[in-house]
Amino acid sequence: MNLTIRPETPDDYAAIAALNYEAFVQWHPAGFKAEPLLVDLLRHHPLYDPDLSLVAVCEGHIVGHVMLTPWPLVVLGTQQRGAILAPLCVAPRAQGQGIGRALVERVHEVGRQKGLALSLLCGHPDYYPRFGYRQRMFSLGGVRVSVTADDSSDPYSDRPVLAADVPWLAARWRQQCSEDALAIAPVEDVTAWYSHAPACDALMVLHGEHPVGYVRLGRSHPVTVKALLVADDLVGVLGHLLRGRHQRSTGEFILPADAAPREATGVTVLASDVATAEAFMICILEEGNAVVQRYCQRVQAGELDPAAISFPGMFDIDA
Ligand SMILES: CC(C)(COP(=O)(O)OP(=O)(O)OC[C@H]1O[C@@H](n2cnc3c(N)ncnc32)[C@H](O)[C@@H]1OP(=O)(O)O)[C@@H](O)C(=O)NCCC(=O)NCCS
Repeated sequence: MNLTIRPETPDDYAAIAALNYEAFVQWHPAGFKAEPLLVDLLRHHPLYDPDLSLVAVCEGHIVGHVMLTPWPLVVLGTQQRGAILAPLCVAPRAQGQGIGRALVERVHEVGRQKGLALSLLCGHPDYYPRFGYRQRMFSLGGVRVSVTADDSSDPYSDRPVLAADVPWLAARWRQQCSEDALAIAPVEDVTAWYSHAPACDALMVLHGEHPVGYVRLGRSHPVTVKALLVADDLVGVLGHLLRGRHQRSTGEFILPADAAPREATGVTVLASDVATAEAFMICILEEGNAVVQRYCQRVQAGELDPAAISFPGMFDIDA
């Protein structure tokens, strides 16, 4: 087999979309069609680097593709140059010949050369450990809370997130998450905050002209909040959503666990649905990085819970 691995070019985009469609629709019993869209969205990420979106070419045909997107991460309260590996696919007719391995090993090598410290993914737990991925390194899910807004009238309004909101959002995020054990940091661009998914809203909650909160949630299941930043009035922001969307002042939400909902007047934590899984993996790319090593070792030793994280809006592909 004469295999070449090289960075993608715009001439490859159509073939890469077709390949992702074919590989993922066959892999998933119900057919999984979102991956070509995810690839397109990742190409619009401000840190997208075509050197890290590789194709495997055999006899002039693209038979494999992998994407490693640089993404700032927080690890044990420090900023790290991380990356998210997604997607990876090999044409069904070409699987089992080492093409997936060649793509992952090459993209890791290029990522290391570019100074990336770690790569994070959700993937097949029996496949990725051969490349150094460690299982159960983070958790996903939410915390179910009951909210009772007070009887006074709702002082808040909302509107879609705008580019002008980014400084407030970035500052709020730093206050809320920059000390986390592990967090996916937003890039300083409105793309970090809106959701491309038609069924998902990303809202600024305002008091007069002033932002008091940011909420990303699906319309089909409006109790599940995908991302949440609140200045200081959690119950007021959630009460505003209840009144606006459900026409009532009490109700339940599932909040992202990394928004750290705490008991507050009017908010009662009912249950935690935060779960880790073998599929939630991290690979250390920069071996000498003591902070990343320490996070992984402490989680593996059971000294630290796998951190609850939220994926950025680009990954709202199931919304
Ligand atoms: C997963 C995938 C990229 C592997 O590519 P590949 O070129 O076939 O992989 P390689 O030839 O490097 O490795 C083959 C090995 O991986 C194993 N493997 C393949 N798919 C696997 C899976 N879903 N889970 C666990 N192991 C898997 C094979 O059993 C084989 O094992 P062996 O080396 O012990 O014989 C490819 O099967 C694919 O595109 N699948 C559909 C899309 C997908 O699931 N992408 C990954 C999403 S996380």
